[in-house]
Amino acid sequence: MLQTAPRHLQIAKVLRAELEKVGIIFSRQLHSDLDDVNALCEHVERYRGKMLRPTLLLLTALAVEGDPCDGSAISPRHRTVATVLEMIHMATLVHDDVLDEADFRRRGATVNSLRGNETAVMLGDYLISNAFHLCSTEGEPSINELLGSVTNTLCEGELLQLSNRENFELDVQTYMEILRRKTAVLVGACCRLGAALSNAPDAMVDAAERFGSHLGVAFQIQDDLLDLLGDLEVVGKSTGRDIATGKLTLPLLLHLQKESEAERKKTITMIRKCDQAGLRQRLEDSGSISAARAEANRLVSEAKNGLSAFEPSSARDLLHSLADAVVDRQA
Ligand code: FPP
Ligand code: MG
Repeated sequence: MLQTAPRHLQIAKVLRAELEKVGIIFSRQLHSDLDDVNALCEHVERYRGKMLRPTLLLLTALAVEGDPCDGSAISPRHRTVATVLEMIHMATLVHDDVLDEADFRRRGATVNSLRGNETAVMLGDYLISNAFHLCSTEGEPSINELLGSVTNTLCEGELLQLSNRENFELDVQTYMEILRRKTAVLVGACCRLGAALSNAPDAMVDAAERFGSHLGVAFQIQDDLLDLLGDLEVVGKSTGRDIATGKLTLPLLLHLQKESEAERKKTITMIRKCDQAGLRQRLEDSGSISAARAEANRLVSEAKNGLSAFEPSSARDLLHSLADAVVDRQA
């Protein structure tokens, strides 16, 4: 439950102002003397959307401060690192759209669809290189070290996912490991850094990271559900890519687990034929979609319970609401 409206409004205002500053640092860092590079970066800035990762860093930092959250706890370093996290995220999306052969993101054309895979790969490299360049301006090697380890893990997650394409024997545990590595580790790092840069005690820093990790897995389960069930118009990005590229996600895995051999064969044939509508119906009927949703909700509850490590505050309330929004979203 949100506390009194004025406090909630105050913190939302602080957050909006801080995110605007993050946007400015982002554009400034990517500015090049080459017009073509600038045009590509401007295109990518359209992907920015909700800026979930900088939001998590900033709100966690504000939650360490407690009420009243007037924003004085946000330092230039918070803003720089929030920008670095968003830039890393953007780099992964540009590369991910190459891997997924996706044409749309954030209601617009992907870089790979507009300019081809070579340009998209190089632009992703430009973003990741700029992210670490910007981070190094802070002169704090421990942040670079943490983020280097995060990007290593992201790549491992994608490699694990690639080696399990069209693996109909994939188990839920390995799927969860893919999600933890490709998505949750970065979200966990946003919350960890928000708390750490605000000099929170170690236990609180660890609790913040756990909150982000649970949220990150829930986010990706919801993302996978939207890929299976959503429409391009509503979701704003290519859907149906998971089945098209042989990625088995939670509802399918839960479904395959409980089918007889004969029924399993039918499901696998439908996957191979990319029979999206038929599969949706099948998974709906077997309760596998509800079961996947229940798992995402369970993870969100676990994430929210972990917020008890923070004193009650408007920022903590917003983290609660944000956690709910991760599984309620349709885009
Ligand atoms: C989205 O998955 C993709 C990720 C969460 C991570 C992608 C990471 C890489 C491609 C590794 C690149 C690493 C660096 C350091 C540049 P999704 O396809 O399920 O989600 P989507 O629906 O948003 O496409
Ligand atoms: Mg993708």
